[in-house]
Amino acid sequence: MLGKPRIHVDECESTQLLLDPSMPEGAIATTRHQTGGRGRRGRTWHDTPGASLLFSVLLTPPAGRRAQELTLVGALAVAEVVDGQIKWPNDVLVAGRKVSGGMAELRDGAVVLGIGINVNQTEEQLPADARVPAASLRTTGRERDVDALLDEVLTALDALYATWRREGLAALHERIVARDALRGRDVTVGDVSGTAAGIAADGRLQVGEALLESGEVNVALH
Ligand code: BTN
Repeated sequence: MLGKPRIHVDECESTQLLLDPSMPEGAIATTRHQTGGRGRRGRTWHDTPGASLLFSVLLTPPAGRRAQELTLVGALAVAEVVDGQIKWPNDVLVAGRKVSGGMAELRDGAVVLGIGINVNQTEEQLPADARVPAASLRTTGRERDVDALLDEVLTALDALYATWRREGLAALHERIVARDALRGRDVTVGDVSGTAAGIAADGRLQVGEALLESGEVNVALH
């Protein structure tokens, strides 16, 4: 079961820095506050001390699996627990606003999967200038206890990760498709623009005729 051993500190730069590949698979790091929380593409992840769920987990995927798929597996775990939607490849939205982000960093053959969830922030405590408008579970009427939520997300992630290890991403495809926030939306990813046609069984996003491995999705406003 993911979650053991657990390193917990009151404050740190980033939980991504508290794990290393010498630890057992499933080790997690948690904190109440990050002074240098990391987002994808060099961005910063903001939190409100005590009101955010911030954790990293050490995973050692078998050879042959694409580690980057783990951001999608992590997003699916969060989306199923909070009843949200996945904005490919790593965000979880509730009512069209971002409540969670995840990132997978490679370390000597291991992966440190970091997940942040805005749990009990008030509207005023959320970043007003976020690229994807932010919400918390509280502002969307889903206020939660942070520790209980961690347990639920770890339980969900544990089961999804076991399936992914054993059978690959295709075994989770139906569940991913059911949570896809982008299908049918007009999007731009890098220099590709078109209608998002869905997430393929191998985790790529189809936009028009193009199948994209990674990227940052901008959704057209109508
Ligand atoms: C993103 O949306 O760009 C990814 C955000 C990932 C944030 C989490 S919070 C726990 C872990 N520690 C970090 O510094 N980042 C991840």
